[in-house]
Amino acid sequence: MSLVLQPPALKKLRLLTYSLVFILGVALLLQTFRSDRMLPLQVLTYALQPSVGSAVVQNQTAGTTVLKGQSAHLIGVGGSKALLVSAFLEHRTKPKKVLVVAIMFRQEKVSLQCRLLCSERRHVSRASVDIHWDHFGFPYGTADVSCPLPPACQAPSHVAVTSAAARNRDKADLEFLEVQNQKELNVFPYNFTSCFSTMYNYTNILQLVQTVEMLQLLGVNRIVIYKMNCSNETQRVLDYYTDKGLVEVVPWSLSEYLKVSRRAKPDQDPGDIHYFGQIPALNDCLYRSMYRSKYVALHDPDELILPQTVDSWSELLPLLEKRHGADRCFYFENNWFPTEFTLPPPPPNVLPGLGLWRNVSGANVLTHLYSEPVKPKPAFNNFKTITNPRSVFVVTVHGVLRSQKSCAWVDRTVARMYHTKVRGQTGLKAQQLIYDGRLLSYSGRLTSAVSAVLRETRLLPDGARR
Ligand SMILES: *[C@@H]1O[C@H](CO)[C@@H](O)[C@H](O)[C@H]1NC(C)=O
Ligand SMILES: *[C@@H]1O[C@H](CO)[C@@H](O)[C@H](O)[C@H]1NC(C)=O
Ligand SMILES: *[C@@H]1O[C@H](CO)[C@@H](O)[C@H](O)[C@H]1NC(C)=O
Ligand SMILES: *[C@@H]1O[C@H](CO)[C@@H](O)[C@H](O)[C@H]1NC(C)=O
Ligand SMILES: *[C@@H]1O[C@H](CO)[C@@H](O)[C@H](O)[C@H]1NC(C)=O
Ligand SMILES: *[C@@H]1O[C@H](CO)[C@@H](O)[C@H](O)[C@H]1NC(C)=O
Repeated sequence: MSLVLQPPALKKLRLLTYSLVFILGVALLLQTFRSDRMLPLQVLTYALQPSVGSAVVQNQTAGTTVLKGQSAHLIGVGGSKALLVSAFLEHRTKPKKVLVVAIMFRQEKVSLQCRLLCSERRHVSRASVDIHWDHFGFPYGTADVSCPLPPACQAPSHVAVTSAAARNRDKADLEFLEVQNQKELNVFPYNFTSCFSTMYNYTNILQLVQTVEMLQLLGVNRIVIYKMNCSNETQRVLDYYTDKGLVEVVPWSLSEYLKVSRRAKPDQDPGDIHYFGQIPALNDCLYRSMYRSKYVALHDPDELILPQTVDSWSELLPLLEKRHGADRCFYFENNWFPTEFTLPPPPPNVLPGLGLWRNVSGANVLTHLYSEPVKPKPAFNNFKTITNPRSVFVVTVHGVLRSQKSCAWVDRTVARMYHTKVRGQTGLKAQQLIYDGRLLSYSGRLTSAVSAVLRETRLLPDGARR
């Protein structure tokens, strides 16, 4: 249908258009003003709980807010939907740069700027943004925000990111991230760090303690846990391990800013971002461990990578490097141990601790020794990773997206992963499962270690033995 306008109508229309443009303009101005006044940054600072050992430092003189410490503070970017997780000096690229681990709204076309702080002097550079492809179709994805370093500022202590459009705003309220990894070290306080991403509604205490104690038997001396929430008893266990210097809990409050999906795909549970924002957490863990740990393992608390020919990861990794070369990442094949099956009823003398732990909530991995038959070919999502973090740039849930050398598959006769969890309907019959008692070769040491922790955290009565 076409409409021929008569001159008076045209005039009216023009007037209407002008008024509309004017109203829109005012609204836009108000909006800009509003977003200036209501800096989302302030809200964010308030909502975040800095972990022990970190502090928010207000510098009135310089007019900046500096977040110190190692917590992954989420920070909003004025004029953009981007969220910043953490910042690191990236020594390995030529030239060097600052890498900001970020979460971006994928459809947003925004030009970002970095404000780098070198001895309290600010330098500006134009950021480039690389959104990782493993967003699984969710509207938000993990991103590398890269800040080139001006010649006069090669090792900035802090960085803030703003949208280029927000250039003329009052910058006094900018929030800066501490740039971590200032030094490229080659001696590390930890041999192995395990990264547990996004612990949510967690109550599985027995399995958590068993995993943490097993990991220590394997050679792990650091565990970074991205925590959303857990039961009070779980918190007691986390506090215990934090006090011992083993566990580092990173408060993961992403759900205060985005609707996090609880599943891996939008059609399973729609939301803004894949599975509780697990992927940015894992990338943060890779970078925060880069110069602290010789190796980094990316897995969940219900997953254990067990060597088959030696006892520990400390012995395993030299073997793997001998076979596949140094500076590699290694993939370990997943094996499901469904907790629905406990076969045969284990005699108590074979599995000490069984009766003793009966009242502790959670699964007992020592009683689930039957695995589902493995698929003939390892699938995309059926493995987890241990890597030299310094040879890797981008990680994802299963594996590595960008690294200096390709990752090597570890033969299942050398090491493989034991994934003990509720499987729901699999259609499998008990007779189809395969016995694998590898875990039992640790059971003596494991049982006494687990019982000791449960007693110290008052989850077992004091005098309880066996
Ligand atoms: C705050 O900033 C001023 C000026 O840039 C600087 O001299 C001072 O050391 C800073 N104070 C703190 C506590 O960082
Ligand atoms: C790291 O491994 C080496 C060799 O296995 C061992 O001597 C050292 O004690 C370990 N370091 C820590 C912090 O456990
Ligand atoms: C939390 O976990 C419990 C069981 O451990 C479950 O009953 C409950 O529905 C879960 N809640 C949420 C919000 O996921
Ligand atoms: C974790 O948070 C969810 C959503 O807020 C809540 O429903 C659940 O009860 C919490 N879980 C625990 C163990 O506190
Ligand atoms: C858990 O701990 C919090 C804070 O210490 C307390 O307010 C709450 O009542 C506790 N919940 C339960 C179920 O004990
Ligand atoms: C488990 O709890 C029950 C009821 O409180 C108690 O009688 C029993 O002694 C407890 N068992 C162990 C091994 O702690």
